[in-house]
Amino acid sequence: MGKEKIKILHAVSEVVPFLATGGMGQVAGALTKSLAENYPNLDVRVVTPLYAYFRDKYEPQMQFLGNTEVRLAWRTLYCGLFEMKLDGVTFYFVDNRHYFDRENTYGYFDDGERFAFFSKAVFSAIECAGFTPDIVHTHDWQTALVPIYLKTQYYDEHKDMRTVFTMHNIEYQGKYALNALHDVFDLRLEDRGLVEYDNCINLMKGAIVCADRVTTVSPSYAGEIQISGGYGLEAIVRENAFKLRGIINGIDTKQYDPATDPMLKKKYTASSLEGKASAKRKLQTLFNLPKSPRKMMICVISRLVSHKGIDLITYIMDDLLNLDVQFLLLGTGDHDYELFFEDKTALHPNKVAASIAFNPDIAGLIYAGADVLLMPSRSEPCGLSQMIACRYGTIPIVRKTGGLGDTIRDCRGGEGNGFVFEEYTAGALFETIRHALDLYTYHPDDWKNLIGEAMSCDFGWDVSAREYLSVYEGITIR
Ligand code: GLC
Repeated sequence: MGKEKIKILHAVSEVVPFLATGGMGQVAGALTKSLAENYPNLDVRVVTPLYAYFRDKYEPQMQFLGNTEVRLAWRTLYCGLFEMKLDGVTFYFVDNRHYFDRENTYGYFDDGERFAFFSKAVFSAIECAGFTPDIVHTHDWQTALVPIYLKTQYYDEHKDMRTVFTMHNIEYQGKYALNALHDVFDLRLEDRGLVEYDNCINLMKGAIVCADRVTTVSPSYAGEIQISGGYGLEAIVRENAFKLRGIINGIDTKQYDPATDPMLKKKYTASSLEGKASAKRKLQTLFNLPKSPRKMMICVISRLVSHKGIDLITYIMDDLLNLDVQFLLLGTGDHDYELFFEDKTALHPNKVAASIAFNPDIAGLIYAGADVLLMPSRSEPCGLSQMIACRYGTIPIVRKTGGLGDTIRDCRGGEGNGFVFEEYTAGALFETIRHALDLYTYHPDDWKNLIGEAMSCDFGWDVSAREYLSVYEGITIR
């Protein structure tokens, strides 16, 4: 019995390489891969929706396992199941075209129903695949119903099953009107207390209460969400702090490696940076900026939403344009921000370029070619871009919040891998940029050393995967 593998099923609404609209998809893919690679005592599997985006590409490699019916209140819904193995991980795909053949991943009036269906389908998948996990590991509000359903509806069949709930961002909680309790979420009146918060159904609250372990994606964020960064859930998080742990995300260091990156024409390392200079030239050509090798190129790769600190960037934009720099932005989001950066590009085409798009290929080139990455977030559970930037020798300027403070050390205080400021003000951001520009312009050797520090940081998954393993081992029934 003791030698049997611990069976882990990740239930997640997006996972690379199939789909990532943000950090959660990347983390789910890289974490499961790392767990499967490093821990032969784990059997790691993933269940995720079968979206139209990748159906055609991957269906030939998938095996159809069967179909069942999922009951969700008065609905009886088709649920097909496909399987595919990749890098030691078994993936299950839940098929229902009505819910998942859509243009976007989220943002529909029936998102609550779509992911309630998916959360129930996780239990059908378990049955259909004949794989009963010891632990179901769920992520964010989209799969928050899994621990809730386990407690309220599936407990008798799965008494030994345990759940882990990871919060990638506590801002998005899955809030719905209370009258959806039965009709949409198929919960009984007596279950209401588990999910009710502030006169709403709050799925994230329900998962925090029902899961056996709760994790979030950095140690600092685990502290912040108990004090003031919990978007209203602080008290619930505090009450459940005994089962909470902050585990920093890693990145896939094999994928993000300028020495081997297939996207880069000329590869590079910290000791030979010509490839970085040539990526910068390519970037300047692509964005019609003057080809000046010594002009500091400041970039932003981000969703354009307020908690990413985009407002601070808009406040300093005119002052920034008075400095001898180039500014490059890639991202989509709030319409006002999109217009702001498009306007600045039109007015200052020699200094500013903005691509209002989500484009991993261009992002890859920017990580390599830019000199500095701005991440002045108001809150940041972990953040991945600052770590990717470091790998490519692009120096992050970050605000000390959540995972940004846990991964970036200020080089002004000795050995650091970037610049860190504390106050959430335009002045603090601008002053830090000026320090960076000063070092870049007048102390090129120190800048080179800084690049070396940044590129040598270990942001791999090894340490964090081990922490997840200890979370799993701590709750497995044997
Ligand atoms: C969310 C958070 C981000 C984190 C990512 C992966 O996107 O906003 O900070 O890195 O999830 O956990």
